[in-house]
Amino acid sequence: MSDRTARLGASGPPTIPFVDLQAQRRRLGDRVEQAVRRVCEHGAFIMGREVAMFERQLAEFCGVRHVLSCANGTDALVIGLAAKNVGPGDAVLCPSFTFAASAEAIARVQAAPVFVDVLEDTFNVDARGIEHGLRAARAARLRPVGILAVDLFGQPADYEAVRQVAAANGLWIMADAAQSFGARYGNRRVGQITEIATTSFYPSKPLGCYGDGGALLTDDEATAAVVDSLRVHGQGAHKYENVRIGYNSRLDTIQAAILVEKLAILPEEIERRQVVADRYTRALRDVVETPRVIPQATSVWAQYTIRVKGGRRDTIASLLNAAGVPTAIHYPVPLHRQEAYRHFPRAEGGLAVSESLAKEVLSLPIHAYLDEPTQEYIIAETRKAVAAVRR
Ligand SMILES: Cc1ncc(COP(=O)(O)O)c(C=O)c1O
Repeated sequence: MSDRTARLGASGPPTIPFVDLQAQRRRLGDRVEQAVRRVCEHGAFIMGREVAMFERQLAEFCGVRHVLSCANGTDALVIGLAAKNVGPGDAVLCPSFTFAASAEAIARVQAAPVFVDVLEDTFNVDARGIEHGLRAARAARLRPVGILAVDLFGQPADYEAVRQVAAANGLWIMADAAQSFGARYGNRRVGQITEIATTSFYPSKPLGCYGDGGALLTDDEATAAVVDSLRVHGQGAHKYENVRIGYNSRLDTIQAAILVEKLAILPEEIERRQVVADRYTRALRDVVETPRVIPQATSVWAQYTIRVKGGRRDTIASLLNAAGVPTAIHYPVPLHRQEAYRHFPRAEGGLAVSESLAKEVLSLPIHAYLDEPTQEYIIAETRKAVAAVRR
């Protein structure tokens, strides 16, 4: 019986973590501590051998030729956009229903995010709405250059549908795979689907480190060379040759060493997450809208996000929180409504789905170590809360 399960029987509401990083640490034994100690001993804290080792292993895992790690997932996006020469006057289409970093990166390179809507069932970009975004971009006298598709909550966007619109309009596609690392689309793993994909190793991500970290994945040799230069001050053939204006954005060796240990158990963790997600879906689909994964994809379940219509979401969240079940709202405000982003163009016809999702989504605890009794408790409390607001 785990500590967590034991605590369920105690009086008063239990304390359930939203993501249980300590359970993962116990699973890893002292491998993380040993990995950190090895780095402390060899002392190459920046670009030490574990960085190259991790990049090689990650490339093999995803079936891509090049993995370039960097300081975080936001930098990965900025560097990817910079490598595509995105700049002033350019428009990059991006869903409004995402984490701010997606649009922030576009604005950081002095381009304009143009917000498009997402699909009702997967929360990922609606390829049919991209044309509306293109019209808005042109009306604002911007030059549409690409689409930043986001793989929200763990499943890849429908890249075939996006590719058709992109090809018809001469746009490239970049994948913000911060939440979907390890997922598949058809017979390809995230990283192999688009020319450039970026990811984040933020601690709570399916593959997270013990701090900040990120990476870019690409098969393209020339892109990889530019990214490699950009992440280290735009360096050329040697350290003190600067051929472009770059960034200081490297993954710390200690983080890479930790990630090597975590990558080894990622496939097993992805399977466990799927078991947890399936259990939620079976037990909740008759009372709330449960997530849908498109048949051609798999999800790594970065989040398990239900949808509660009719203005009852916040009451349900309060009831769950009172019962010791933590919840999260990803995301309460769509980006086109945020103060920092509302002046950017948005698709003609509005972003109705993004607006309603912001009012209706509710994420439940999910991680690879969520044991069955704890999950049964969360399920029972969710059903109770839904029944209570129906009365
Ligand atoms: C969709 C998405 N994009 C980008 C990021 C940015 O990653 P990071 O926090 O590592 O900068 C995140 C992470 O939170 C994210 O969820």
